[in-house]
Formats: sequence, structure tokens, C-alpha cells
Amino acid sequence: MPGRTRTTKKLAQRIQLDYFKRLYPLPRWRRILSIGLVALGLVWLGWEGLAGNQHVYTGGPVAHSHAVFGLNCAACHVSHIFLKKATDQACLSCHDGPVHQAKQVFTPSCGSCHVEHVGAVRLAQTSDRACTRCHASLQTKDGHPSFAANITEFNGGHPEFASVRPGRSDPGAIKLNHKIHLKADLRGPHGPVQLQCADCHRPPGGKEPWPFGQAELSTVALSEPPPQPLPARVSARAYMATIHYSESCSACHPLYFDERFREPVPHKEPKVVYNFVVKKFTEYIAAHPEELRKPSLAEARIPGRPPRPAPRNAAEWVEQRVEDAELLLWEKTCKECHTLSFAAGASLPDVAKSAITVRWLPHAIFDHQAHQMLACTACHVQTATSEKTSEVLLPGIATCQQCHRSGRAEAAEARCFECHLYHDWTQEKPVKGKFTVPQLLSKAGRSPSPGSAAGRASIQP
Ligand code: HEC
Ligand code: HEC
Ligand code: HEC
Ligand code: HEC
Ligand code: HEC
Ligand code: HEC
Ligand code: HEC
Ligand code: HEC
Ligand code: HEC
Ligand code: HEC
Repeated sequence: MPGRTRTTKKLAQRIQLDYFKRLYPLPRWRRILSIGLVALGLVWLGWEGLAGNQHVYTGGPVAHSHAVFGLNCAACHVSHIFLKKATDQACLSCHDGPVHQAKQVFTPSCGSCHVEHVGAVRLAQTSDRACTRCHASLQTKDGHPSFAANITEFNGGHPEFASVRPGRSDPGAIKLNHKIHLKADLRGPHGPVQLQCADCHRPPGGKEPWPFGQAELSTVALSEPPPQPLPARVSARAYMATIHYSESCSACHPLYFDERFREPVPHKEPKVVYNFVVKKFTEYIAAHPEELRKPSLAEARIPGRPPRPAPRNAAEWVEQRVEDAELLLWEKTCKECHTLSFAAGASLPDVAKSAITVRWLPHAIFDHQAHQMLACTACHVQTATSEKTSEVLLPGIATCQQCHRSGRAEAAEARCFECHLYHDWTQEKPVKGKFTVPQLLSKAGRSPSPGSAAGRASIQP
């Protein structure tokens, strides 16, 4: 009986060596479908492209501000078939994006910071990376950065604000003792008062009356310096207005010059004050000639000054009264708040420029209104104990970092754009619009054609 001969050779012969060359139904269909559907997709994409419907290539919806022309790919993608990058020129044809710093070593493209096709975001809310690619190790054309050079995030490497660094002082020349004025029983015009910050500090443009300003004086405005320009993007009420004597001081510090008059001198340059005083006394003596015969009453008793001879006529009387009034004004009244100096040979003093700072942090933006839920002293902690103008009462970075914290969900925004401008908007150039409405809203098929799926990955933040 022949034995069962299952040699390995026989076994091997049972294997169909060309099995991989034959197509079984399942793999066959897999192949047909994968090639066929890709081809179908390409045909569809090509067809849409030829028909001008470029939106099928998009990486995602454009930002809210651009949504109205979001299907007009050509508005931003200005180049040729199967696009290059969205060009800066395209962005600039609708709005300027002025340069950041003259000293920067390169200029990033608009689209690298303002990332498109990621939905209805605010494009201006750029990632920290947009800034730290330079500021994490800052380089300048001249090789000498004038600012902190290793900032990685608000809570990392960001320097203390320059105005509150040790040794800094307030350059203001109006003498003011916050401690005295904030005490509970300050002598007011009609009895004791408790002053509030808002009795002296308000954003510009409010309509509330000033409780310690004299209404009739508020028309007397000093020749003010032109207002400092506000940064772009900041509301007109972001900063506190500078203080005015007429609004905040006049009711408690009236500028009387002589007991004969209920009227104070105008709050103006010494020359104007002097002319006002001369005019007042000249009119007075003309109306009251009998006063010439009452020298003892008129002569002010000033310690250390020898008595003057009685005036012989109205002119001498006026001269003596003006001399007394000047002594009172220059040596006491005005001097309480101002530093006065007499140039050599001058008969009238110079008043030092008040130099009240409006913007303390010129390299950042700040807005009081966004923080109005806080007490003023939550940030301006030292105010109630400050006795000198020269003390700086601003908060340091640690105060802000309690709320503005990088990378935290339960925190206020801490990316760079929250507190800084990137563009130097003072250099902004006007744009001459070039679109008609149909042109802007068209699906712009003719000209450019945007690009590859591969490219899409490169636009992620
Ligand atoms: C408001 C301007 C704007 C409009 C409109 C716009 N894009 Fe873009 N698109 C951009 C910017 C910016 C980028 C990314 C940065 C770059 O390419 O320089 C980009 C990138 C792309 C990319 C990635 C390509 C690459 O090389 O990085 C594709 C694909 C794309 N856009 C398609 C479209 C299509 C399709 C449309 C029209 C439906 C369109 N875009 C409309 C601004 C725009
Ligand atoms: C066809 C005109 C047009 C083009 C092209 C265009 N924009 Fe705009 N952009 C607008 C309009 C309109 C607004 C909204 C009005 C405004 O804020 O002044 C706007 C707003 C913006 C804003 C502020 C709004 C926000 O979301 O933060 C930024 C930033 C901006 N564009 C950047 C760009 C960049 C970058 C490009 C180029 C990739 C570009 N734009 C191309 C018209 C255009
Ligand atoms: C390094 C990142 C960066 C680059 C590059 C950049 N921007 Fe900006 N852009 C910002 C930031 C941050 C803001 C918000 C702060 C500001 O207004 O300066 C902004 C604001 C804007 C705004 C106004 C937004 C508003 O609130 O009205 C426009 C418009 C704009 N950019 C256009 C451009 C254009 C056009 C270019 C290219 C020429 C450009 N940007 C390049 C970061 C950048
Ligand atoms: C291309 C590199 C570059 C990028 C990107 C860049 N900066 Fe700057 N930045 C500079 C240079 C250079 C200076 C000037 C340094 C000097 O004068 O010494 C500067 C200065 C500054 C200053 C201080 C001076 C001033 O005028 O206020 C601030 C604040 C600032 N940048 C914020 C930002 C923010 C916010 C961003 C991101 C939106 C940003 N920068 C992106 C290069 C850059
Ligand atoms: C009687 C009016 C008056 C009151 C009330 C008053 N201030 Fe002032 N404050 C001034 C004057 C005047 C200046 C300008 C002189 C100076 O720079 O110190 C000033 C300056 C400031 C400055 C900027 C100058 C610096 O050195 O930092 C801050 C901040 C400030 N005050 C905060 C406050 C706060 C907070 C309150 C309430 C708790 C307050 N002030 C109440 C009159 C007042
Ligand atoms: C109670 C405090 C106070 C007294 C007293 C006072 N001033 Fe003033 N003065 C101010 C304040 C606050 C300012 C800031 C600007 C304003 O009031 O509009 C100022 C500003 C001025 C300026 C403008 C300075 C500049 O920045 O160029 C002149 C000039 C001036 N005062 C003159 C006088 C004269 C003259 C007297 C006396 C007759 C006087 N002041 C008395 C508080 C006072
Ligand atoms: C509610 C009334 C009131 C207002 C408003 C007021 N002051 Fe006074 N001020 C006083 C009183 C009262 C004193 C004297 C306090 C003391 O010596 O105890 C005084 C004292 C001063 C002194 C001398 C302080 C010292 O250290 O001796 C100066 C300077 C001064 N005020 C400036 C101002 C300026 C500037 C304003 C307006 C921005 C102003 N005051 C607003 C009531 C007021
Ligand atoms: C979140 C902290 C914060 C709070 C709360 C706050 N301030 Fe300020 N304040 C600041 C900062 C920061 C500055 C410097 C802004 C600048 O000038 O660039 C400032 C500046 C000022 C100045 C100088 C003028 C100016 O606007 O730069 C005055 C005056 C002032 N604050 C008064 C007040 C008063 C009054 C309140 C309450 C109604 C108040 N602040 C609440 C942070 C704060
Ligand atoms: C919460 C507000 C805030 C945020 C967020 C913030 N800064 Fe600042 N930054 C400031 C203030 C305020 C100053 C002081 C400005 C001045 O002194 O004029 C400042 C100063 C600077 C300076 C000048 C530094 C110097 O040497 O004087 C640079 C550069 C700067 N910031 C860059 C950045 C960058 C980059 C980011 C993001 C990583 C950032 N800042 C985030 C508020 C902020
Ligand atoms: C009690 C928490 C708190 C503190 C302390 C605080 N902030 Fe804010 N800040 C906020 C909130 C809340 C907002 C508005 C919401 C947001 O933009 O995240 C804001 C908004 C801002 C804005 C944007 C304002 C606008 O209108 O766009 C700036 C700039 C800013 N803060 C700077 C500062 C600076 C500088 C300090 C320190 C002197 C500071 N903040 C301290 C909570 C705080």
C-alpha cells in the first residue's frame, strides 16, 4: 500500500504562486474605488476651478471682517494658478499695516501674524509667537536694543514698567499732597469734606459738575498745551484728563488779592494777573477817592517792612496797593501750588510749567474703563499716604500679573496684543479704494487660483 507521501515539495506545489497577481472581488473594488474616487474628486475640483468657484480649495472660513469677500480668493491671493502666498500688497490695497520699528532686522509677512482661514477670529489677536520670534532674543540693526531683549511671555522675562523702576520720579510741578487732601475731615468751602479721587481725576469729556470748582471760573482756561495724541485703538476715555485748577482746586483755594474785593484774580500768567490787579485798584480809587485820606487803614502791616509814606495821589495809592497784592500772590497764594522764579531784572515771576503727565506708559496701551470695577486704590495703592508730587503712584507689573496671566483659562488676556500696539499707526497711509461692490463680492474665478492642500498646514498658528 502506497504510503501517504506529503513531501514538502508536493505541499509547495499546492500553493498558487501567482495568487497576488489575480484580483479577487474585494481588493479589486478597493482599487477601483480608491483610484476612481480620487479621479472624480480631481475632476470635480478642476471643474469647480474652471467654473470659477475657488472656495472649494479653501482651508477654512476667513475672519469676520473679511467674511463679506471671503469667496473672492483673488482679493488676497494675487498670484497665478495654484497659488503662492497671499501677498502683503493685497492686504495693503485695502488697509495699511505700518511698519513696527525702524530698527527691526526683518519684516514678517502680514499673513504670518494675522492668520487666515481659521474661522471668525479677530485677526488682530495674534499669538505671542508673532512677537516672541523677535522679542525672545531681540536683535536690532545697530546691534544695541534699547529695550528688554528676552521676553517670552507676559509672565516670563517681561520687565518691570520703566516709570516705576527704582529711582524714577514724577516730573510734575504742581505741588500736591495726596495724604492731606484725602484725610477724612479736610476743610472744604462749607465745612469738612471727604474728597474722592473723582473730585480731581476723571477721564476727559464727562458732564458731571465739579463739586470743588467754581462755575464762573471754569470759563477761565489757561493757554493749554495741545493735547497729547492718544494711541490708536484706545478709547478717548482710557486715560485720566490732566487736572485743572478751575475744576478741582478753585473752591478751596481762591486767588483773593485784597480784602476790598470779593473777586479773585484770574488764574493766568503773572502778566495778566498784574494787569488785572492794577486795573481793579485804579477803578476802585476813582470810585472811592475818600480812601486817599485814610492811609492807616490802607497800609498793610507787613512784618519787617518799614512803614511807607502816605500816598499823595491816586497813582501812588494804586502803586502801594499793587505792591502789597503782588507780595501776597507771588510769595504765598501762587507759591502754595507753583514754583515761581524771577529772571534777572524781571519784575514779574515765571511760573514753572505744570508738566502733568497724561501717558505714563508710552510703550504700552492702558484703559481705565476696562478696569472700572476696581477701586482706584486697588492699583494706586500708595496714594493715600503720598505727601509729595515727585512720588510715582502707578502700579507695577506684579499688580497686573495677578489677573493678566499667560496661558491660563481663568485669567484676563495676557497675550502681547492686549497691552501693545505692533504697528506704528502714526505712520499710517490713507488707502485709495479701488473695488466696485460687484468686484469685491465676486467669486473671482478669472485670475488667481489658490493652492495646494499641503500648503494649508503651513497656515496653522
Ligand atoms: C482676506 C484674505 C484672504 C482671502 C479672501 C482668502 N485667503 Fe487664503 N490665505 C490667506 C492668508 C493670509 C493665508 C496664509 C498665509 C500665506 O499664504 O501667506 C492663506 C492661505 C491659504 C491657503 C494655504 C496655502 C499656502 O500656501 O499656505 C489656501 C489653500 C487658501 N488660502 C485658499 C483660499 C481660497 C480657496 C480662498 C477663496 C475661497 C481664499 N484662500 C481666500 C488670505 C486669504
Ligand atoms: C478687499 C479688501 C481687504 C483685503 C484684501 C484685506 N482686508 Fe483686512 N480688512 C478689510 C476690511 C473691510 C476690514 C474691516 C474694517 C476695518 O476694521 O477697518 C478689515 C479688517 C482687518 C483687520 C482688523 C480686524 C480683525 O479681525 O482684527 C486686520 C488685522 C486685517 N484686516 C488684516 C488683513 C490682512 C493681513 C490682509 C491680507 C492677508 C487683509 N486684511 C486683506 C478689508 C480687506
Ligand atoms: C508681527 C505680527 C504682525 C505683522 C507682521 C503684521 N501685523 Fe497687523 N497687527 C498686529 C497686531 C498685534 C495688531 C493689533 C495691535 C495694533 O493695532 O498695532 C495688528 C493690527 C492690524 C490692523 C488693525 C486692527 C484693528 O484693530 O483695527 C490692521 C488693518 C493690520 N494689522 C494689518 C496688517 C497688514 C496689512 C500687515 C502687513 C503689511 C500686518 N498687519 C502685519 C500684528 C502684526
Ligand atoms: C521683526 C522683529 C520684531 C517682531 C516680530 C516684533 N518686534 Fe517689537 N520690536 C522689535 C525691535 C527691533 C524693536 C526696537 C528695539 C530698539 O529700539 O532697541 C521693538 C520694540 C518693541 C517695543 C518697545 C518699543 C515701542 O516703540 O513701544 C514693544 C512694546 C514691542 N516691540 C512690542 C511688540 C509686539 C507686541 C509684537 C508682536 C505683535 C512685536 N513687538 C513684534 C522687533 C520686533
Ligand atoms: C485734590 C485733588 C486730588 C485728589 C482728591 C486726588 N488727586 Fe491724584 N493728583 C492730583 C494732582 C494735582 C496730581 C498731579 C500732581 C502729581 O503729579 O502728583 C495728581 C496725580 C495723581 C497721579 C499721577 C501722578 C503720579 O505720581 O503717579 C495718580 C496716579 C493719582 N493722582 C491718583 C489718585 C488717586 C487714586 C486718588 C484717590 C484715592 C487721587 N489721586 C486723589 C490731585 C488729586
Ligand atoms: C491750588 C493750587 C493753585 C494755585 C493756588 C495756583 N495755581 Fe496755577 N495751576 C494750578 C494747576 C492745577 C495748574 C494746571 C493747569 C490748569 O489749571 O489748567 C496750574 C497752571 C498754571 C499755569 C500754567 C502752567 C503751565 O503749565 O504752563 C500758570 C501760568 C499758572 N497756573 C499761574 C498761576 C498764578 C499766577 C497763580 C497765582 C495767582 C496760580 N497759578 C495759583 C494750580 C494752582
Ligand atoms: C475740599 C477743599 C480742597 C480742595 C478741593 C483742594 N484743596 Fe488743597 N488744601 C485744602 C486745605 C484745607 C489745605 C490745608 C490743609 C492742612 O494744612 O491741613 C490744603 C493745602 C494744600 C496745599 C499745601 C499742602 C501742604 O503740604 O502744606 C497745596 C499745595 C494744595 N492744597 C494744593 C491743592 C491743589 C493743587 C488742588 C487742586 C488740584 C487742591 N489743593 C484742592 C483744601 C482743598
Ligand atoms: C487696573 C489698575 C488701575 C486702576 C483700577 C486704576 N488705575 Fe489709574 N492708572 C493705572 C495705570 C497702569 C496708569 C498708567 C497709564 C498710562 O498713563 O500709561 C494709571 C494712570 C493714572 C493717572 C495718571 C494719568 C493717566 O491716566 O495716565 C491717574 C490720575 C489715575 N490713574 C487715576 C486713577 C483713578 C482716579 C482711578 C479710579 C477711578 C484709577 N486710576 C484706577 C492703573 C489703574
Ligand atoms: C497686561 C499688559 C501687558 C502684556 C500682556 C504685555 N505687556 Fe509688554 N509692557 C506692558 C507695560 C505696561 C509696559 C511698560 C511700557 C512703558 O514703560 O512705556 C511694557 C513694556 C514692554 C516692552 C518695553 C520694555 C522695556 O525695556 O522698557 C517690551 C519690549 C514689551 N513690553 C514687550 C511685550 C511682549 C513681547 C509681550 C508678549 C509676550 C508683552 N509685552 C505683553 C504691558 C504688557
Ligand atoms: C482685577 C483683575 C485685573 C487687574 C489687576 C488688571 N487687569 Fe487689565 N483687564 C482685566 C480685565 C477683566 C480686562 C478685560 C477683559 C479682557 O480683555 O480679558 C482687562 C483689560 C485690560 C486691557 C485691555 C483694555 C481694552 O479696552 O482693550 C489692558 C491694556 C489691560 N487690561 C492692562 C492692564 C495693566 C497694565 C494692569 C496693571 C497695571 C492691569 N490691566 C491690571 C483685569 C485686570
